[in-house]
Amino acid sequence: MEQSLIGVTLLENPKQNRGTAFSQEERQRKGLVGLLPPTVETLDNQVKRCLHQLSKKNSDLEQYIYLAQLADENQTLFYAVLATDPARFLKIVYDPTVGAACLEFGHIYRKPNGMYVSMEQRGKLKEVLKNWPIEDVRVICVSTGGRILGLGDLGTNGMGIPIGKLQLYTACAAVQPDVLLPVLLDCGTDNESLLDDPLYLGLKQKRPSIDELDAFVQEFVDAVQDRFPKCCLHFEDWKGTDALRLLARYADQISCYNDDIQGTGSVAVAGLYNAMKISKGSLKDQRVLFFGAGSAGIGIANMIASAMKLEGLSEKDAQERISLFDVNGLLEPSRKDLSPDQKPYAHAAKPTKDLVAAISELKPTILIGVSTVGGTFTQQVIETMSKLNDRPVIFALSNPTENAECTAEDAYKFSKGRAIYAAGVQFDPVTIGDKTYVPSQANNFYIFPAVGMAIVATEAKHVPDEIFITAARATADQVTDEQLAKGMLFPPQSDVQKVSHVTAAKSAERIYSLGLAQVDKPKSIDALITSLEYKPIYED
Ligand code: NAI
Repeated sequence: MEQSLIGVTLLENPKQNRGTAFSQEERQRKGLVGLLPPTVETLDNQVKRCLHQLSKKNSDLEQYIYLAQLADENQTLFYAVLATDPARFLKIVYDPTVGAACLEFGHIYRKPNGMYVSMEQRGKLKEVLKNWPIEDVRVICVSTGGRILGLGDLGTNGMGIPIGKLQLYTACAAVQPDVLLPVLLDCGTDNESLLDDPLYLGLKQKRPSIDELDAFVQEFVDAVQDRFPKCCLHFEDWKGTDALRLLARYADQISCYNDDIQGTGSVAVAGLYNAMKISKGSLKDQRVLFFGAGSAGIGIANMIASAMKLEGLSEKDAQERISLFDVNGLLEPSRKDLSPDQKPYAHAAKPTKDLVAAISELKPTILIGVSTVGGTFTQQVIETMSKLNDRPVIFALSNPTENAECTAEDAYKFSKGRAIYAAGVQFDPVTIGDKTYVPSQANNFYIFPAVGMAIVATEAKHVPDEIFITAARATADQVTDEQLAKGMLFPPQSDVQKVSHVTAAKSAERIYSLGLAQVDKPKSIDALITSLEYKPIYED
């Protein structure tokens, strides 16, 4: 039960504050007379003022700072503003603007907005988590700041990511903000410029050894289980090797998932499901070549293999259909530098460092760029893919924009309009001859907020790949034939709330059918999701 606040304390509480929308009667009752201007406003009017003030901000980072301040003052108004144009504001509260905010985090810091759990608190983490005032936390988004977007190790400055990611749970899938807790697990940083920055707020020490990190994570996992037994851990933006190792360790033990791995895999598979509708093929018959074999590449490869298995292939046959190429060339068994996660995709082939040669030899039907290197899908690469395939599937997922392996324009131009294309960023429509193509962005926000809602609704014990594949299918199936005909592989971003509702219900259904739910199955899962949805309105 929320404590009933009065006076200035009430105005300073973002969950209860209504600002100028407090009625005259409330102002009398709650000691607010004289503390607010006389006019009583509607929420709509407050939203209009915020939009006006936002329009005066000169940069996306200034808009981010304004919205962060708004979230600190009035939570309902913050989400009401986001709801006016999710596609516009998701780019401000999250990628790409959140990247700029993380770079500046120590400098623009105002309030904690979550928990900072540091290695200095080892041995006491259960006590530390008791300091969070809410008892029933259902999702913790936790980062070490080890690999923030494409920006590398940002240490404690990475806190912008768990905060933003959880705001998307609410903005996209209407998860109640009260059940969400951003956590920065501070293990130090190897970023020298941060260690030298007097305004840096994290532990001023180098990152620990793997063994020390893993022991610290284990204590944190135990403390979370103890303090918040219904809580799912969403791992986000950890260093790639840490991310894969910890997911492998905990996936079958606790309720957890990693969005960089499973969410990214899921959104890519959603795009591929729709690509298959256009090319009239089956995923299990495709040959996939990845350009980039880091955590995104491995995450997507594993998810595609899981999706192929669901279409009847054995694990080995599915892995046989997938190859990877990295900074040292094609992954094949003579390579001595492969990680255990990469080895299942190293198939006998002529060693090569030439992407075009690898395409000519392997004849992929799908080429996926996750290399972080812009412009690497050259005219020759796209033409080679187009020679081999009527409808080559080309995903250039690296971001930001300058890192995209090819632009939408190049993909359509060099394939003469035949490429089935998606990018990690949003490109404008491209017109070739009399046809306009609308490229889609493979944005994880179609997936993780909806899966998060399904987890909250069902109290899922574990979050295996099957749930992400269901979410991928549910997202893909919400693209209309008309949209597919324009080349769109994902629903319009402006529909993200409607799409997330359906995806959440389908994902919850899957959690029940896998026997992973810890609450009784309701008559209507759709009604259960609706009943849990947060609405940015002032409740009486
Ligand atoms: P990472 O740093 O773990 O992996 C990069 C991989 O690319 C490595 O295997 C590296 O060897 C390879 N690479 C680097 N330079 C290369 C070159 N010149 N030629 C061939 N291979 C090269 O990075 P991570 O986390 O796997 O992310 C990769 C990219 O994918 C990033 O740009 C990230 O922003 C993007 N991404 C996009 C998502 C989406 O669209 N939904 C989701 C997650 C990541």
